[in-house]
Amino acid sequence: MADRPYIMLGIESSCDETAAAIIGSDKTIFANEIASQMAKHAEYGGVVPEVAARAHLEAIDMVINQALQTAGIELANIDAFAATAGPGLIGGVAVGTVTAKALAAARQRPYYAVNHLEGHALSARLADSIEFPYLLLLVSGGHTQLLAVAGPGRYHRYGTTMDDAAGEAFDKCAKIMGIGYPGGPAIEDAARQGDAKAIALPRPLKGADHCHFSFSGLKTALANRLKQLGGVEQAPLHDLAASLQAAIADCLADRSQRAMQQFIDDYPADCSATPPVLVIAGGVAANKYIYARLADTAAKNGFRLSVPPAALCTDNAAMIAWAALERHHQNTADSDDFDFAPRPRWPLDGKATPPPGRGVRA
Ligand code: KG4
Ligand code: ZN
Repeated sequence: MADRPYIMLGIESSCDETAAAIIGSDKTIFANEIASQMAKHAEYGGVVPEVAARAHLEAIDMVINQALQTAGIELANIDAFAATAGPGLIGGVAVGTVTAKALAAARQRPYYAVNHLEGHALSARLADSIEFPYLLLLVSGGHTQLLAVAGPGRYHRYGTTMDDAAGEAFDKCAKIMGIGYPGGPAIEDAARQGDAKAIALPRPLKGADHCHFSFSGLKTALANRLKQLGGVEQAPLHDLAASLQAAIADCLADRSQRAMQQFIDDYPADCSATPPVLVIAGGVAANKYIYARLADTAAKNGFRLSVPPAALCTDNAAMIAWAALERHHQNTADSDDFDFAPRPRWPLDGKATPPPGRGVRA
């Protein structure tokens, strides 16, 4: 037992991907399978919870079998089972957690209820060699947060969005422009042929003396500019896409810069020994333009930038299995009971101070 890695099967089903992965404690990715429901939601321009729950139920057995087959590993050789237990759409979370618990109970193995955000937060350590603490910019469809990551379960949130998440801004603006779903990849694509300076858009909260974000004003400004320019029939959509992407990237870079100063103040000893690390995780981290913008900002502030490969940035089960392995590595007895209730809302830093203004996200 001791000379082989501890093997974790992870399940992700909190949004619109049904995913299963098999990961070793030595960071071997034996399998990382995904059944995407994107096509089912595309006609609605967003994820429909009832459609998602049914699709998870239909796909989960197949995805797990596919992962076992790809890995060439028997169910009997899986040491523990993990599933996303929140935050997310409760129907999907229920499908994933019930499946993982049933497998764990049948094989008499430990069960890990994983926080989806912790999966994103720790995914960089599966792909790269990064020590705690590090600074994390988590940018997905549901969340935009800056956090100091001190270890599994140990987070200090510096900032969050007051309204829309960055990915949500991409998705809503793409819908307004009628260029497809999900919006992030569609806008990145369209922006390649556009001029980022062509259309003036605001940079909400740029220069503010805190680390919070706001994106809803940007969406309204884009809708107004689109109307002024003659609507989707006549407006230069490539220029609009490029200008929007640049505005979002500017906001992310500016707020991250503020958080880097805070991080250096909070962890002076860790920052003086070796260059501190800024990790970007979540679906928006797959954007190459944003990567380049953040790489530049990080370098100017003495940080090394680390971004997991795209397959580990967007929702996946490898990050869920890995988060459970991080907990196992820290304390082998740290698994969860079968009565662990799914949590639709589950902040990484339960003591975080809310941003000024309205609405706070988990
Ligand atoms: O992390 P993720 O897969 O799911 C959530 O937990 O939300 O993130 C999905 C989000 C969507 O809003 C999508 O538009 C955005 O990530 N996204 C991107 C790109 N790829 C995905 N945003 C900008 N550029 C991309 N290339
Ligand atoms: Zn996610």
